[in-house]
Amino acid sequence: MNNNIILECNNLSKIYKQGDNQLKILNEINLQVRIGETVSIVGSSGSGKSTLLHLLAGLDKVTYGEVILDNQKLQQLNDNQVCKLRNANLGFIYQFHHLLPEFNALENVLMPLVIGSKVSHEDTQLALDLLGKLGLSKRQTHYPSQLSGGERQRVAIARAIVNNPKVVFADEPTGNLDNQTSNQVLDIFFKLQEELHTSLVVVTHDLEVARKTQTQYRLHNGTLTQIT
Ligand SMILES: Nc1ncnc2c1ncn2[C@@H]1O[C@H](COP(=O)(O)OP(=O)(O)OP(=O)(O)O)[C@@H](O)[C@H]1O
Ligand SMILES: [Mg+2]
Repeated sequence: MNNNIILECNNLSKIYKQGDNQLKILNEINLQVRIGETVSIVGSSGSGKSTLLHLLAGLDKVTYGEVILDNQKLQQLNDNQVCKLRNANLGFIYQFHHLLPEFNALENVLMPLVIGSKVSHEDTQLALDLLGKLGLSKRQTHYPSQLSGGERQRVAIARAIVNNPKVVFADEPTGNLDNQTSNQVLDIFFKLQEELHTSLVVVTHDLEVARKTQTQYRLHNGTLTQIT
């Protein structure tokens, strides 16, 4: 056991069954992420990036292999335990923001704390502070439909980091933004990540995004190879 490692997977494989066909998307993947490390995974569309991210974050079940998060094997926990571990330790920024449309920006950011049933005055202050850092002070009562794409993505970032997670996963966090907005969002994101010393695993097809991380991998034909 290495105490610097916050997340690892060993021989992780994912096979999807389609009728009689078996699709092996991930083939014995090994990965270790240290505390505070930023990691990117690049790969073409359909290479299995989202699948891998979901497995690492305990959002989906592996076919073979294991995922160890903060020294706990996810495969030895029941669904409820995985859910609790995820809520307390992980933040997830989805490929498409997945904000809840019937809640405003502030309420969306507070959602992980509501689930953990511990929203206090301090929590609200923290959420407001985060929205401020992300340039959204004047947008806290806006609903997702009243926000621009970049603003929605920034709300999603605030939501992912509000409960000070140990690992943040980001699936194409800027995939649907224009270049300029994408760069602004990423700069804020990496600055916050550094401040909080969270580990970050970001999946992208954009090499510019990958270059901002310390360790870069490529996913190709079900195999992960380190490129830096
Ligand atoms: N539930 C499923 N059942 C069967 N096949 C699936 C399922 N989910 C994903 N796949 C297949 O697995 C492959 C990898 O999908 P995944 O979403 O991980 O790709 P990706 O690298 O994230 O692609 P993109 O860059 O387009 O987001 C795809 O070929 C997809 O068709
Ligand atoms: Mg994807």
